[in-house]
Amino acid sequence: MKKKLNIGIIGYGFMGRTHSNAYRRVVNFFDVPYEPVLQVICGLEADKAKAFADQWGYKSHTTDWRKVIEDKTIDVVDICVPNNVHAEIAIAAAKAGKVIVCEKPLALNGAQGKEMVDAVEKAGVANLVSFNYRRVPAVTLAKQLIDEGRLGKIFHYRANFLQDWTISAKVPQGGMATWRLDVKAAGSGVTGDLLAHCIDTAMWHNGPITTVCAMTETFIKERMNVDTGKVEPVGIDDACMFLCRFENGSLGNFESTRYARGHKALYTFEINGEHASIGWDLHDLHRLNYFDHRDESIVRGWRSIHVTDADMPYMGKWWVPGLQIGYEHSFVHQTADFLENLAKGKPTSPTFREALATQYVCDAVLASAKNQKWETVKKR
Ligand SMILES: NC(=O)c1ccc[n+]([C@@H]2O[C@H](COP(=O)([O-])OP(=O)(O)OC[C@H]3O[C@@H](n4cnc5c(N)ncnc54)[C@H](O)[C@@H]3O)[C@@H](O)[C@H]2O)c1
Repeated sequence: MKKKLNIGIIGYGFMGRTHSNAYRRVVNFFDVPYEPVLQVICGLEADKAKAFADQWGYKSHTTDWRKVIEDKTIDVVDICVPNNVHAEIAIAAAKAGKVIVCEKPLALNGAQGKEMVDAVEKAGVANLVSFNYRRVPAVTLAKQLIDEGRLGKIFHYRANFLQDWTISAKVPQGGMATWRLDVKAAGSGVTGDLLAHCIDTAMWHNGPITTVCAMTETFIKERMNVDTGKVEPVGIDDACMFLCRFENGSLGNFESTRYARGHKALYTFEINGEHASIGWDLHDLHRLNYFDHRDESIVRGWRSIHVTDADMPYMGKWWVPGLQIGYEHSFVHQTADFLENLAKGKPTSPTFREALATQYVCDAVLASAKNQKWETVKKR
């Protein structure tokens, strides 16, 4: 009999679904030491929380996150709410001694993120930030190839995260559907929402980012605010581009926008090393493109590795070679790793402290865009 782990998820939206799915699926595919039990789901609207509880098999539902924290039977508090609510819940959960999973970005800014890090470290509770793209098998394989030294010295890391859903001036800000456009709820625009993913993966692959030079733009300056009913200035960055230096001497360039017509979620990265290069594209997430200059010249070229074989990261747990998996599986992998480490008393990356490093890069990017100069990234 596996030890049961009672889960309370706060937020029944997009991420509430991916996390619920992960807790349910993980025991079917991974030999994890715990059996997660979907105990309580929390969200702002009672009828929606109830419908979610019924659909996903939660034992109860509530509209008050404090009840989840006060509930002595809850082991894990999983935070899937807008960014401005992360800190308050995480700090209260840490004080209550709960294991904490928090969606990205960790916080609204680095100062708030630091308070969260202090709280979990003082309480000594296990903690994880959900930068799930690390655990797409092809992205994990990229990390393996880099760590094996196959690329040699790395010169360049470039990443994009492009969307097109806010081009219309009619899209409002605020409210539950469009909180991402309200700086009070989101903290920033594409920098914290999309580039945070690219930055987390990049630093995992290639080490710390030390300095940044950025530009941002807010193309639509005023939007209706659903919460106030008034047309108000837009405080988020609609687009952001930045150059950076990594501690290992390599150069980075990153771009994100919600104004790239035709792109829904085009997250790509390319890494160029002395011997080899790697490329990846979220729209084709099971493939890793790899070029190795050491191949014999007559067969040298970009190869497209179909990351489905059993000896590739996580894939031995799924189907048979050639059959692929998708987006939701990255959350299952994250949960499997977290439960495995939890039983051993080991941290799972990225911890709050590791995610704080990403937050500090975001802070430096936004400061650089504002001040129109290079900024040094604060050390975590
Ligand atoms: N890892 C990823 O790829 C990824 C993708 C999307 C979102 N996110 C992150 O996940 C978080 C949630 O985003 P989402 O897209 O799921 O949002 P969403 O709008 O779909 O859902 C938000 C949920 O939070 C609840 N909520 C809001 N305020 C609350 C409060 N005070 N108390 C209790 N419940 C409250 C709402 O009722 C709703 O259920 C954000 O931090 C976001 O950045 C991460």
